Formats: sequence, structure tokens, C-alpha cells
Amino acid sequence: MKSYITHLECTFCGRDQDANQLIRTCPADGKVLFARYDLVAAKAEFSRECLKSRPPTMWRYAEVMPIRDPANVISLGEGFTPLLRADRLARETGAGELFIKDESLNPTGSFKARGLSAAVSKAAELGANRFTMPSAGNAAGALAAYAAAADLEAYVFMPADAPEANRRECQAYGARLTLVDGFITDAGKLSAEAADKHALFDVSTLREPYRAEGKKTMGYEIAEQLGWTVPDVIIYPTGGGTGIVGIWKAFAEMERLGWISSRRPRMVCVQAEGCAPIVQAFKDGKRFADPFPNPSTMAAGLRVPAAIGDYLVLEAIRESGGCAITVTDDEMIDGVRHLSSSAGVFAAPEGGATLAALKKLLAAGEVSRDERVILLNTGSALKYLDVLAERSL
Ligand SMILES: Cc1ncc(COP(=O)(O)O)c(C=O)c1O
Repeated sequence: MKSYITHLECTFCGRDQDANQLIRTCPADGKVLFARYDLVAAKAEFSRECLKSRPPTMWRYAEVMPIRDPANVISLGEGFTPLLRADRLARETGAGELFIKDESLNPTGSFKARGLSAAVSKAAELGANRFTMPSAGNAAGALAAYAAAADLEAYVFMPADAPEANRRECQAYGARLTLVDGFITDAGKLSAEAADKHALFDVSTLREPYRAEGKKTMGYEIAEQLGWTVPDVIIYPTGGGTGIVGIWKAFAEMERLGWISSRRPRMVCVQAEGCAPIVQAFKDGKRFADPFPNPSTMAAGLRVPAAIGDYLVLEAIRESGGCAITVTDDEMIDGVRHLSSSAGVFAAPEGGATLAALKKLLAAGEVSRDERVILLNTGSALKYLDVLAERSL
């Protein structure tokens, strides 16, 4: 198994960068870099058949992952999470065929494990051994866990109101935790300062190229688990946007590998009513999102008032013919209750948001009752017990 990575490409100006150096964003315009692969050569060697004998982790797609030497992969078994058929929930909501991609079963209890496994492995392969990041909570837990497993150093900056589980796990994993009186954007400034001061590699969302590579494996898995077809709709709770952008990238790569057709799902971005910069930009027809004033929601992962990858999220939604909608915190909680009681999935509030969104889309006729829909449950409610207790759940 070898990686077919060739270079990095700026998603904005299109300039190429060397994938063998530690680099974060495009030196020309500061925008997001994507990893590119020689998919023509990969197509000749890497078939869907190859996957049959591989272990059920996201590293089964190693040829389209950035790590050159498999010995450099830092893994805690992330990925290949179940795609659960939720027939009872479908009946009760009036949906057609409904699936839950249950990311709560990842190491550290959220899909953040995928991105950090990929980003820390690649940066370490290129020589980094000290890391920093701002995080709503789950990403910090994941960085801290992978750093612990590989004997690397991790600094994490998270808002003081991040869920207790995230604070405790970071400490248990041995990361240096700083609680910030402010939003993730404020934590980002402190993380950047710490990076300069202590020579740390900053793995902030989409400010380095490889977290998206980990997250894109959700797209590969969805297609593989559906027998190399794609669903009609994917509903994704969007904060910084790495996941939705990564999944969208995966579909383009799989088409070039000859694994799927040109058919695409409609990508639906769900945000909280109290923090919806992407939804606002989508409605206004804008290419970039304005920072959302006074962001407020119980779903820490959705409390992201400004994201460097805003234009990529908006592109994925528009190119796919999807949409962007908000749900309230109460609707998210109802979503968590309903996912738990009717599907047996104790979902994070962000996962609850996807069910709340589906109900609204069905009521508005934007998703029809004969479509195949995937809800992305991005994390476990077990990491939000304090937040849920405040809402009597
Ligand atoms: C549980 C959960 N869901 C969703 C998100 C948003 O993810 P993304 O940055 O990929 O939009 C986060 C981010 O912190 C999260 O922790």
C-alpha cells in the first residue's frame, strides 16, 4: 500500500505547493490547501476489490491518504463506523430510507478522531513533534489522544464553557490545556500566539491540509457501505466545515477512481439558530460568510462564528443542489431524545440537529418521502452529560 499523494493545491488560487514540506495554508493568499493524488495511477492499482481484505479502519483507503510510510500512521482504530438503518425513525418521521452514520463509535467519541489521526500522522512524518490547536472541545480531545499515543506534545485552547468531558480527557491524555474566556475564534488567536512563541505546529481546522483528508474517509465509507452508490441527501452539522468539505472531496476522487458514477447526494448544512454564518451566506447568495455576531448554542461544535473554509462549504452545498438550514437548541434536544429513543443512538446535540433538520426539510417538501437520507451523528452524547443535564436530559 503506497500513498499516491503528489502535491498540495490551493483551493482558491490554484497554485501548487510541495507536499513534502510542513505547510499550513497557501503562502500566496492564506486560503485552504487540499492534498492531491495521482488518481490515474491509483486507478490502475487500487480497486474496490482491494478493500475486501483490509481492516475496518479509515486507513483501508491508504492510497488516497497522505502518509507516505505506513509505519508513520498513528492510529487508535478510527473510522469504518457503522451505517445504521433506522427503520423505526424513518416510519416515525415519515422519511423514506433513513441511515445514521454513527461517528460516536470513533476513538475519543467523535468524528474528530479521523481528522486528527491523519493530520498528526502527516505532520509527524514531516518532522513536527509539538502541536497546538483551538477547539470547541472534541477536536482537542482527539489531538491530545493521538499526541499521547505517539509521545508527542499537545497544547490545546478551548472556550471555558466547553463540555466537561473534553476538559477532563485533555488533562488525562497529558495535553497542556488553556481555557479561554471567549469563543473558538479567541482561542484561535491564543493558539496562533503559542505556535509562534513555542514553535508549535498549529493544526486548526482547515488551516493545515490533512484534517480534511481524515474526514473525507466518511465519504468513502458511505459509498462503500451503500454498495458503491451514493444516497440522495446527506445532512451534516456544520461548524468549521472540514467534514462536509472532506466528504464532497471524496466523491470527486471516487468518481476519478472509477468507483462511483457522477451522481452526487444533496449536501445539507445544518447550523444552530444562534450561530449560523454559513446559512446566512447561503441565503444571501454570498461566496464568503460574514462573522456571526454573539454566537450562542449549546452544541459546542456548532459555535463557530467564522470559518476559513466558508467558501468551500458554500461551494459543496451549491454544487450539490443542497441547502443550509438552522435549528434551535430545543429542536436539537428533541432530536437527541428521538435518536436515542427510536434508534438506540445516544447522539451528541450536533447529531440531534441533523434529525431536527430532516423533520423541517420533510415538512417543507425539500426532502421527499421516497429518498435515501443519511444523518451524520458526529459524536456521542456521553461527552455532553453536563450540557444535557442543564436541559433536563
Ligand atoms: C460533535 C461535533 N459535530 C460537528 C462539529 C463540526 O464539525 P466541522 O468542523 O467538520 O464542521 C464538531 C466540531 O467541533 C463537533 O465536535
